[in-house]
Amino acid sequence: GVPEAFRPRVILSGPPGSGKTTVAAEIGAATGWQVRDTDADVETLAGKSVTDIFVEDGEDAFRALERRAVATALEEHDGVLALGGGAVLDEGTQALLAQYVADGGTVVFLDVSLAHAAPRVGFNTARPLLAANPRAQWQALMTARRPVYEKVGSLHVLTDDLEPAAVAAQILAAL
Ligand code: S3P
Repeated sequence: GVPEAFRPRVILSGPPGSGKTTVAAEIGAATGWQVRDTDADVETLAGKSVTDIFVEDGEDAFRALERRAVATALEEHDGVLALGGGAVLDEGTQALLAQYVADGGTVVFLDVSLAHAAPRVGFNTARPLLAANPRAQWQALMTARRPVYEKVGSLHVLTDDLEPAAVAAQILAAL
């Protein structure tokens, strides 16, 4: 497996609006650990935005880039890693994350209800999977994905009514 001394300290998963990016920044600020985000890594790999990848190349192409970004981060990132909300859908990515957990790593499922996700996402959203009818699409996506988030996650945190700093503290206390 991955050497303990050099792998992500914690990986954050969950749907859009669960606070992955904000909580990653809070953990980084509290610990000094570097923060990395697979959406940003995918944009670097592709040389274009997440939306352009979805529109021009399709979701499967995006998931393949995301799998590469996760694999690379697992090998070279010694900090906090925030996943894109759909990264866990890809079976290859699931296998990578399962191995990371088997090696003692922590994948956090940041759970959130629609009522709490909506203001966080804004739902004026640039996210391609939520563009047509954000609230209905988010709810459908969460219902479909919940079993996957639960399967892939090794730590479940319900973020409703918690400030990001409190979520970060809860995660750090569990590591
Ligand atoms: C997606 C979530 C987005 C981004 C892409 C697809 C999803 O990341 O990866 O738009 O399928 O849930 P965030 O969860 O950071 O918004």
